[in-house]
Amino acid sequence: MDQLGLDEIERLIGAADAGDDELRGTISDLGAARVARLLVEEIVFRADPANVHRTFDVVLELTGTQPLSYVFQVRPDGRIEHSEGTSENAVHVITYDIADLVRDVFGTVRTPRPVRRAIRSRFEESHDAAADRGLLESVLYSQRATAAVLSGVDAPAPDLGHLSARYLSDKWGGLHWFTPHYEWHLAGRRHERLRILDIGVGGFEGRDTGGGSMLMWRRYFPRAVIFGMDIFDKSGLDQPRIKTLRGDQNDEEWLDRVATEHGPFDIVIDDGSHVNEHVRTSFGVLFEKHLRPGGIYVIEDMWTSYCPGYGGDDAAEAGPATSVGLIKQLVDALHHEEHHVAAGVADGGVASWVTGLSVYRNLAFISKGVNIDGGIPRFIPRRGLA
Ligand SMILES: C[S@@+](CC[C@H](N)C(=O)[O-])C[C@H]1O[C@@H](n2cnc3c(N)ncnc32)[C@H](O)[C@@H]1O
Repeated sequence: MDQLGLDEIERLIGAADAGDDELRGTISDLGAARVARLLVEEIVFRADPANVHRTFDVVLELTGTQPLSYVFQVRPDGRIEHSEGTSENAVHVITYDIADLVRDVFGTVRTPRPVRRAIRSRFEESHDAAADRGLLESVLYSQRATAAVLSGVDAPAPDLGHLSARYLSDKWGGLHWFTPHYEWHLAGRRHERLRILDIGVGGFEGRDTGGGSMLMWRRYFPRAVIFGMDIFDKSGLDQPRIKTLRGDQNDEEWLDRVATEHGPFDIVIDDGSHVNEHVRTSFGVLFEKHLRPGGIYVIEDMWTSYCPGYGGDDAAEAGPATSVGLIKQLVDALHHEEHHVAAGVADGGVASWVTGLSVYRNLAFISKGVNIDGGIPRFIPRRGLA
């Protein structure tokens, strides 16, 4: 049975907030079993690591469609395996209407979760006197197993610093301390349906190494799809809500083509080569044409502006060809209607789309919106009082 594609996942996420008929119609169109598999995978992806002394089985039964049943095996190494079927040894059986589970995993309406599901304890049947500790302690461990599974439905994402460490991104703790800035700018958008372009997957040449930031964004934005772009083939990291794209961020034609196919994006993060020319090329291709109004473009590692090995300048003031130079030009662009040369006429182009800049050390957030409001009226004198 094939997996849901990105477009289908986006459709399901959209339907999660729709009325019951539309949601059930979407589940039926996509195939209940394919939807269920996505839900189970998403729950396991999001779940907190469990702390149990032996493997416990937890069963999920879905109703509202043909009967579907899945087993979560919660293991002492903290991992959760999943498979179709049922288990005689389940400590708990969770029953959910499939539409309600879609709402709880991908929707934005925050009803108290226990309202929508039934949980039956089967602890006594599954109690393993030989493997278990005392009866009461084992009951408590089995609860941990079920809590770990349900955390994949209920638990809000930990903060980005925690996620950066969990998934081995370098955005917090040692090399960089970026995540509080990301939280400041992005937390309000966590439950939106987003398309994120993450330039730079990490992990060097390996097909399935790196990807820390893509995983971090997948966990942080529960309704987003993430495109990870890299010069190396990273297709081993493709998974639900994550698609990798192989190419050079300095290749204008390729960049424009893939952005036309997969955009427009709501958030673009340039954590790629950090070569100044590349940073400027990607911004030039993506910001005006492929970032949605209301979107944010992020540039990391601007220290390379001061590093000749990356095309930067060996000076205290970064020149116009650098990424810091780009930011300085954008400060002027932001004020394009105030330039005395333009006399209140919009320059058009990038300038009319830059609505804000937030610059931190090695990190810049460029907000996109409509930057045309006429500027300071002409009747206001253009010289100050002597
Ligand atoms: C710093 S790592 C990305 C780390 C990742 N974003 C994270 O936070 O976990 C930079 C990545 O950019 C990729 N890269 C280097 N040059 C590139 C280019 N010209 N175009 C696209 N990606 C490039 C590298 O292969 C590397 O995987």
